[in-house]
Amino acid sequence: MNKPKILVARAVFPEVLAKLAQHFDVESNQTDELWTPVQLIAKLQGKQGVFTTGSERIDAALLAACPSLKICANMAVGYNNFDLDAMTAAGVLGTNTPDVLTETTADFGFALLMATARRMAEAEHFLRAGQWTRWSYDMLAGSDIHGSTLGILGMGRIGQGIARRGALGFGMKVIYHNRSRLDAATEAECKASFVSKEELLKTADHLVLVLPYSASSHHAIGAPELAQMKPTATLINIARGGIVDDAALAAALRNKTIAAAGLDVFEGEPSVHPDLLTVPNVVLTPHIASATMPTRLAMANLAADNLIEFFMKNKALTPVNHA
Ligand code: GLV
Repeated sequence: MNKPKILVARAVFPEVLAKLAQHFDVESNQTDELWTPVQLIAKLQGKQGVFTTGSERIDAALLAACPSLKICANMAVGYNNFDLDAMTAAGVLGTNTPDVLTETTADFGFALLMATARRMAEAEHFLRAGQWTRWSYDMLAGSDIHGSTLGILGMGRIGQGIARRGALGFGMKVIYHNRSRLDAATEAECKASFVSKEELLKTADHLVLVLPYSASSHHAIGAPELAQMKPTATLINIARGGIVDDAALAAALRNKTIAAAGLDVFEGEPSVHPDLLTVPNVVLTPHIASATMPTRLAMANLAADNLIEFFMKNKALTPVNHA
């Protein structure tokens, strides 16, 4: 019997490719070229499945041009690169990689929070630039983590991981806002209290964004929201670019509307708003929150297993729609 044909759209661990090759006729992109949408459509002709990362957009135009496609397995927990309604309408299943990256991503969110609040990137630049010529009482003084109020916007698995780190590790008071309130047992486990978005903005000393990107979360944090935050507050975005209005944030950092920000994701990444590159009070990282080798391997394996289970047992492990 002919094996199903799949495309692996970006370079991936060789062992994952080898596993896929046991089940599929695989075309892969191990040179990691960045394909245009037109090139991606050409590569997908005759393919029944595709292994994507967050950088391949699967939309109505692509689906119409690739009628043999049955499944898109994203190697990411977020799937805003999928037009899910168009996929469902076309009978194409989408899958993502939840759970396997939760703790690694929560670790990184906390690391970025600490680096931002304690001005670590700014301090390192200062030292490397030879500006450390003497001590002074307020040199690079930041804000405390321990005992402060941690605000979390978006309280899914990763948000809960950050809440546990803050409450149990650093004695922080944790408040959160989410589309729906957590059950009482989960709130108790995370030591987190539900508040309105307004209360969250007003009260948090450190605000971490962990909500999915959608039309309704576009610019959830813009100039009006930044104006409601404390001037001493820090803002951390490990969710998705577009949730924060980056131009408004750069202005707020320059004007000291808030004290500092830590950003792992950007509008239009890998481009970064030029104003963010010139304000000192921001820590910038290139979308690496899930980037440890074991976690990236687990994500790649889960995406591959979704393809295998779908074609072998007609049941993907972690679907995000019903197709
Ligand atoms: C990374 O951003 C992911 O969604 O997994």
